[in-house]
Amino acid sequence: MSQRTLVLFKPDAVRRGLVGNILSRFESKGLGIVALELRTIDGTKADEHYAEHVERDFYPPLREFVTSGPLVACVLEGDEAVEVVRAINGATDGRKAAPGTIRGDLSLSNRENLVHGSDSPESAEREIKIWFPGL
Ligand code: CMP
Repeated sequence: MSQRTLVLFKPDAVRRGLVGNILSRFESKGLGIVALELRTIDGTKADEHYAEHVERDFYPPLREFVTSGPLVACVLEGDEAVEVVRAINGATDGRKAAPGTIRGDLSLSNRENLVHGSDSPESAEREIKIWFPGL
C-alpha cells in the first residue's frame, strides 16, 4: 500500500556533503519525492518533532545537534514507505548498523546518525503535519 513518510537528513549529512549520496539511495529504490526543503530549526521545533524523547537522558545533546545547522526535511512516498525507509536507514547506532544501509555505510555514531525516518504510519502522519502542514 502506498504510504508517505517523513525523512530528515540531519545536520551531519549536510555538513559532510552526503545529501546527494543519501537522496540517491531513496530515489534509486523507487521512492518518490513529495516535498524536500533545506531548513534550520530551533529548539522548540526539535521538541515538537522529538516529543516522545524530550525526557530522555540523550535528548539535550540530540537537541543541540539537530539545531546545530541546516538539515534537509523531506516527505517520501511509495509502497510500504515507512518500513522501506527504515530498512534503508539501518539501525539507530551507526556502529551496529548493517553494511549497505545509510548508517552502516556512513555513520559511526548513535546520535550523529545522518537520517531520521518516521517509525510508524501514525508517526509519519504526525511528523508530516509538523514539517509540511500544507500537505
Ligand atoms: P532518530 O531516528 O532521529 O530518533 C531519535 C534519535 O535520537 C536517534 O535517531 C538518534 O539520533 C538519537 N539517539 C537515540 N538513542 C540515542 C542514544 N542512546 N544516544 C544518543 N543519541 C541517541
